[in-house]
Amino acid sequence: MARKKFVCGNWKMHKTVGEALALVAELEASLKEAAGRVQVAVAPPFTALKPVADAIGHGGSVELAAQDVHFEKQGAFTGEVSATMLADVCCTHCIVGHSERRQLFGETDESVNKKAKALLAAGVLPIVCVGETLAEREAGQTLAVVGRQVRGGLAGLSPDQIGRLTLAYEPVWAIGTGKTATSAQAQEVHAAIRALLRELAGGVADEVRIQYGGSVKPENAAELMSQPDVDGALVGGASLKADDFSKIVKGAIR
Ligand code: PGA
Repeated sequence: MARKKFVCGNWKMHKTVGEALALVAELEASLKEAAGRVQVAVAPPFTALKPVADAIGHGGSVELAAQDVHFEKQGAFTGEVSATMLADVCCTHCIVGHSERRQLFGETDESVNKKAKALLAAGVLPIVCVGETLAEREAGQTLAVVGRQVRGGLAGLSPDQIGRLTLAYEPVWAIGTGKTATSAQAQEVHAAIRALLRELAGGVADEVRIQYGGSVKPENAAELMSQPDVDGALVGGASLKADDFSKIVKGAIR
C-alpha cells in the first residue's frame, strides 16, 4: 500500500495567536481539496497551540503538532512542557530532535529517545528529525551520522512504536539557507534510513513516512516528493505563508 504523504509546517518562533489563527484559517480554506489525499499538520509555537486547536477542531484538514517537549511527566522543570500537556491541547504530533534544538539547545540522541518514548506513552506521534552538517557531508559521513541519529533516537522502541512515528531527514546545511538537497541526494539518504528501519522494525519500515526538510519551496516540493522514499516534507520558512504552504501540499498529490 502506498504511504500517504505527510506535510508539516514548522512555524518555529513565529506568529502571535492572532497571526496564527489568521494563517490557519487561510490554510483550511485553500486545502479543502487536498484533504484526505495528503496529511497536513502545522506546528505553531506553544502559546498558539490551544487557540489553533480550538480553531481547527477534530477531524479537519489540518492537524496540530508541537515543536518540542520535555520527557518528564511533570515536575520542577521551569520553562518546559510535557507530552501529556501537549495531548491535553489536542496535539496529534510533536517534532523532536530538530537540528536547531540539537545545535542551540543541547539536544542529544539520548534526549530525543526519551522524548519519543514520552510522546508515544501520551499518544502523541513523534516526528524525529535527523540530518548531517555540511562538514559531515563533505567528510563523507552523511550516512554514518544519520544512521547514528536514527539508532539513538529510536533505541528501545518496539516495531509497533516505530510504526507510529515519522522521520524527517533535514540536512543542516539546507535548513533556512535556500540550498536544497537535490532529489537524488534526498532519495539516497531516505533509502538508507528505510533500510535501517527495516533492520530495526522489519516490515513496519514500509509504513513509516520519511519527510524531507530544508528549504522546501513550491518550486522544488513536487520533485522532492516524487522520489520513492520521500513521503512528505517538513517545511520551515515557506510554511509561514498560506499560499506557499498550500502549493507545497498540493505538490504532494500526484
Ligand atoms: P526551512 O526549515 O524550510 O526554513 O529550511 C526547515 C526546518 O527547519 O524544518
